[in-house]
Amino acid sequence: MRFVFTKTARYPGLEVEHNQFRRSLRTLFVNLKYRGLNRTILGLLAIACAKARLPILQDYRFYKQNLRESGLDTEGIVELDDLDIPEEMRSSASRYEAASDYEFRDVLEKLHIDCSAYNFVDYGSGKGAILAAAARYPFQSVTGVELSGEMHQTALRNIEEMKQQDKVRAGSLISIHGDAASYTLPPVPHVIYVFNAFGPEVLQGVLDRISADLVDVREPIYFLYNNPMHHKLLEESAEFDKLSNAFGGKWMVFARPGKR
Ligand SMILES: C[S@@+](CC[C@H](N)C(=O)[O-])C[C@H]1O[C@@H](n2cnc3c(N)ncnc32)[C@H](O)[C@@H]1O
Repeated sequence: MRFVFTKTARYPGLEVEHNQFRRSLRTLFVNLKYRGLNRTILGLLAIACAKARLPILQDYRFYKQNLRESGLDTEGIVELDDLDIPEEMRSSASRYEAASDYEFRDVLEKLHIDCSAYNFVDYGSGKGAILAAAARYPFQSVTGVELSGEMHQTALRNIEEMKQQDKVRAGSLISIHGDAASYTLPPVPHVIYVFNAFGPEVLQGVLDRISADLVDVREPIYFLYNNPMHHKLLEESAEFDKLSNAFGGKWMVFARPGKR
């Protein structure tokens, strides 16, 4: 069956081969895998109670479980109008919302790579939800580039919290305040991540920088694209191949093959 992707009805332009039943099963599986049985059941009960307008179990909603357990402030949606980003960048930027760290972990683990040989970069890293998730893996470094000063400041606080809780396995964990397309990558292997942060012009700028900065890197480069609104740019790029659609196409995974 062919559906228009309607998880949040916010990305109507993204068409994904999608089966509602399979999607629910996948979500259930990922929650069981990373959250465990008890917390998954509590989360489902909390959703059912919220739907039935019963004011009980609401502290066990999935997003509140995350906040309670991690102590990190990553949740919520910040609309574009409320983001402190330069006027001239507004038309290309997207609002802030955190991705599912469980989906991220599932996609990353399916690469079967040795993270310790890679740097990780999140372009449009917001409050740092995925920086926090990536920092639990032994990447050489985990870097976020975020255009909004306020989101960046929250990410810095979350990074401090991660360090205090001794949860950082990556060699370094930083958030940089700036435009994604202006960030210069060090010439080492990378796993790149983008969650629908910006429009095609900025994405093309990012791809051009990856090409130029990583020209001498011989190992494969991975590009994890969550809500891949502008996937055509990667599909049409001479450098990247599409490896897979994850979560019914809600994610797309691309790779630049290693060079001999
Ligand atoms: C949908 S959020 C993604 C947050 C995070 N990456 C995650 O997956 O949880 C997109 C973020 O991209 C930021 N952004 C938009 N345009 C940007 C740009 N040109 N450079 C850097 N960040 C940008 C927004 O401020 C917003 O915080």
